[in-house]
Amino acid sequence: MKTKLLYLDDAYLKESSAKIVSINTKSPQVEIVLDQTIFYPQGGGQPADTGTIQTDKGIFTVSHVSYNDGLILHKGKLEGLMNIDDKALLKINWETRYHNMMLHTAGHMLDQAVKNIDNKNFGVDGNHGIAKRAFVAFKFPVDESLIGKIEDEINSIVHKNLKITAENISEKEINKRKIKLQFELPKNKDLRILSIGSYNPMPDGGTHLKTTNECSKVSITGIQEKKGQWRVSYSIEDRENKIKKDKSDSSNKIISISELKSKVTNVQNLIKNDLIENLVKEELKTKYLGKKGIFNDLAKIISQVGSANKRQAGQILNELKTDITESIEKSVVTSGNSQKKWVDLTAPGIKPKTGHMHLVSQAMEEITQIFERIGFSRSRYPEVDWDWYVFESLNMPKNHPARDEWETFFVDAPMNKKMGKIVLTTHTSNGQVREMERLNSKPPIRMINIARCYRRQQDATHTQMFHQFEGLVIDKGINIQHLKGTLDYFAEQFYGPGTKSRIRPFHFQFTEPSLEVDFSCHICHGTGFLDEKTNKVNGEAREGALGHAPENQRQKCKFCKSGWHEVGGAGMVHPNVLTAGGFNPSLYTGFAFGWGVERTYTLKEGLNIDDIRLLYSGDLKFLEQF
Ligand code: PHE
Repeated sequence: MKTKLLYLDDAYLKESSAKIVSINTKSPQVEIVLDQTIFYPQGGGQPADTGTIQTDKGIFTVSHVSYNDGLILHKGKLEGLMNIDDKALLKINWETRYHNMMLHTAGHMLDQAVKNIDNKNFGVDGNHGIAKRAFVAFKFPVDESLIGKIEDEINSIVHKNLKITAENISEKEINKRKIKLQFELPKNKDLRILSIGSYNPMPDGGTHLKTTNECSKVSITGIQEKKGQWRVSYSIEDRENKIKKDKSDSSNKIISISELKSKVTNVQNLIKNDLIENLVKEELKTKYLGKKGIFNDLAKIISQVGSANKRQAGQILNELKTDITESIEKSVVTSGNSQKKWVDLTAPGIKPKTGHMHLVSQAMEEITQIFERIGFSRSRYPEVDWDWYVFESLNMPKNHPARDEWETFFVDAPMNKKMGKIVLTTHTSNGQVREMERLNSKPPIRMINIARCYRRQQDATHTQMFHQFEGLVIDKGINIQHLKGTLDYFAEQFYGPGTKSRIRPFHFQFTEPSLEVDFSCHICHGTGFLDEKTNKVNGEAREGALGHAPENQRQKCKFCKSGWHEVGGAGMVHPNVLTAGGFNPSLYTGFAFGWGVERTYTLKEGLNIDDIRLLYSGDLKFLEQF
């Protein structure tokens, strides 16, 4: 099957009917094929038409049209319903199309004008409305000095008011008539030639004006060499005036009896449909017979019917009115008995959506409150900071291998002599020296710094952006027992009574000694075995219970595997760090700890989040659980 191309026979068709042959709703845009069309598919340098395809039940807004092996594909947006074999009314956006037609015809006239000046030259390519500037590309050089001459020549063609005609033709005929081809003929389309006056015809599949002076004055706007061709750009003047003229023409258009009859049928179909849909009688009356209703709107047409046909038109309209009135009377649905109008006032209302804090924000709030209760104050320091605060002041001189553990993102910014490069903070420890500076190196310091951190890794247990919280305490006489006590306090407060902390030796450049901190598993209570919990009385293992059975007979805790969860680092503040912050290390001591908010939070009882990336997936189904 091929779509019948109505625009080839009559480029001035603004409306027509057609039958739907296929609808494809699967591609990203709906695609409709019709048995015939007035929509021009993009090609030959002329842009595609836009417009609407309307049926009784739906309207399709055409945003693009393309040619595919004999079929014209109308692409766009469908509102309502359309089915194969439905009859449709097509309307193109005429103003745009008419402008495109003018540009296209002007392109052919420009080709002729240049040929008239230099008979060896000819156009090989063109663009008439797709690109920003319309142009014809010529095979041989066109000198800029000729602009004025070309302009005169083309406008003289316009003024001659030559007839423009198109005819379908075979390739044989083209050869027989010795029609000079300027470019290769398209293989997949029927051939057609366009003649302007008695000039040599040219193969063309576009839509064109009927006579040359329908085109307004043409200006040549420049000549440019591109890809070995010479592009002569042009524009047409008075576009708005032409369009205005055209508009007034169409409203003065005489309407024939058959056109009126088809409009009447449209209204009859519309009302049939509304009756099937069970619209309420009162509504139908206003819609069809009201002051601004469909009937009155259509009746205005009478002024456009030629005087010879007025009588007949009047009759047709009268019949339509009787028809509408009777159909509406027959309709049984009134506002009294309409199901559509029924409202259940006792039905429960629609619950408004409520949100809540993201679970990471909730965790941060909770952590803040826990530390507030023992005299810590929350502070926040930059997330994009100097190397000095992130590494160097923390006893990690430039090029120190310890820095490698922090997979750092560097900011492409100028270096500072003292502060070094700018980095995305890899940990909240950058707040340590900053806090000491903020308090002018005056004790006591009890800081809790919670902030975003960034590292170059991403997997089930790491996200490139995450949060840490950092504790720092500095005063006279602070020792490791204060640290252990603080950790135990946090463990109980955050994970619940009975949770213990454990410290193991480790190494950080900025603490000495350095420790790693673990919390006991809330499932197996630090034993590593699942049966332990169930076999305890008041926290003590029952005698003879499984708790004393050989290990190979006991069930391992899958959640922690060892009884403990590692959460982060801690230690006594290194003397060099105290010095960097302006404290005298022989008078003051301090401890610090820091670890990830996400990791700490996901270890909470009953959470069981095995992929930390879920937290930032933005998936409401997941987030709404918290
Ligand atoms: N900043 C360290 C890290 O990101 C943790 C830490 C903080 C260790 C404070 C000791 C003291 O791994």
